[in-house]
Amino acid sequence: MQKILILDFGGQYNRLIARRVRENRVYCEVHPWSMPLEEIRRFDPVGIIFTGGPRSVYDPTAPHADARLFALGVPILGICYGCQLLAQALGGSVSPAQTDTAREYGKTNVRFDPSCTLFSGLPGESVVWMSHGDYIAGLPEGFSRCAESAACPCAGICDEARGFYGVQFHPEVNHTEYGRDILKNFLFLICRAAGDWTMEDFRRRAVGEIRRKVGSGRVLLALSGGVDSSVAAALLSEAVGDQLTCVFVDHGLLRLNEADEVMLAFSGRRLRLVRVDAQARFLRALSGVSEPERKRKIIGEEFIRVFEEESRKIGAVDFLAQGTIYPDVIESGSGSAAVIKSHHNVGGLPDVIAFREILEPLRLLFKDEVRELGLRLGLPESLVMRQPFPGPGLAIRIIGEVTLEKLDILRSADAIFREELQRFGLTESCSQYFAALTNMHSVGVMGDARSYDCAVALRAVTTEDFMTADWARLPYDLLDRVSNRIVNEVPGVNRVFYDVTAKPPATVEYE
Ligand code: XMP
Repeated sequence: MQKILILDFGGQYNRLIARRVRENRVYCEVHPWSMPLEEIRRFDPVGIIFTGGPRSVYDPTAPHADARLFALGVPILGICYGCQLLAQALGGSVSPAQTDTAREYGKTNVRFDPSCTLFSGLPGESVVWMSHGDYIAGLPEGFSRCAESAACPCAGICDEARGFYGVQFHPEVNHTEYGRDILKNFLFLICRAAGDWTMEDFRRRAVGEIRRKVGSGRVLLALSGGVDSSVAAALLSEAVGDQLTCVFVDHGLLRLNEADEVMLAFSGRRLRLVRVDAQARFLRALSGVSEPERKRKIIGEEFIRVFEEESRKIGAVDFLAQGTIYPDVIESGSGSAAVIKSHHNVGGLPDVIAFREILEPLRLLFKDEVRELGLRLGLPESLVMRQPFPGPGLAIRIIGEVTLEKLDILRSADAIFREELQRFGLTESCSQYFAALTNMHSVGVMGDARSYDCAVALRAVTTEDFMTADWARLPYDLLDRVSNRIVNEVPGVNRVFYDVTAKPPATVEYE
């Protein structure tokens, strides 16, 4: 299998680079910049990409590439910091921009030399996304300039004979008009990748590996009904059939009919599926609690307790399976970001039950690849294409204390919103959309009577990675219809808001 190696120098778009490569059906992995040369040789890449990074290459403690990399005979593309690194390592010079105008952040016009293979087929000039304070002052021997902007004479550099290319801008972000073409040129014209990495390949290989690893052992999986754990369950059941037991904890914080739908999706498969109805105990544990982080902690702990009890009933397990996907793997290796919300998933489980090993069969796949695999494994589209749903469920969409009555109100309002969005054909243009129940009561008039009821908030966002998000520009007609239906069909609600806040400063969820 042909592979591209992405060496991570700490840039914020590294995940995106990997996605762009995979979109072209070329397999790639992101590894830290310090990956030892021997491992790189074993990885045997057909091309290497140096990512961007926050440091300056002339800072003595900045990360550097192993100089022996340049003698491997493998094409290299350096992006931003990676470009400066390439230039410096091969004898060029990099300097801090002397004036504000020489620093470039944001959309910039760049002129390309279309005779350079990297820019083959591109127009002579277009818009790119720049984000740098340093610039290449002197080219290394053998290199020439192949792109320039008003402030940056070396916006692109290349040594075509050795297959070394560097761009000062970010081809991986959408703002770079021809970014995808530039990466394609690198993959196919320069690295000569075949673009033959398919999901069918992955499926065959993964099933084989799981069988080899598990042998006659027993596997336990916490099935949340989310995309990742569902696809992991389907893949594992294909590999080891009823050696797999899935535990689905219905914590009562799910959306309308959700628990039944999950059970139905797995009904025809050869796996043991245990559904635990834990609604009452979750509600009890949450009773009287309105502080968001406490709610999250309680749900996380309760979940682990229920899961632990169930796994004790099942007996000794050899493998604990998790639906970890590649973004989780990359992110967990990237240092300590501030905890904005303590995300709850099954990540806490390994501490509490006895097992021999962890199985993470999706750990090298991106979300869209996981979805494709799910469809191939025969999971229904409604499950595989689902929008993300947080582990603590509706509890973090009810501001304040969670009660059964509030849950019922929210479930009904949310179902109406989702149904109408679907009717308007807009589900695919929103990354996530849901209703939340505010803790506000207000006066209204229904018929001829005064009401004093709850307010529902509607939230729909568009985003690439959920780190930032914008509110979706939904049509007024849709909002009008949803609002009308909610106040008419859901008792206890007399007001509907549409949330027009981006992330940041807000978050996607309410708590
Ligand atoms: P926020 O609210 O942090 O959400 O902007 C970003 C994305 O993460 C999801 N989310 C969670 N997912 N457990 C999860 O599995 C959680 O505790 C959790 N909190 C937020 C959220 O739905 C959105 O997609």
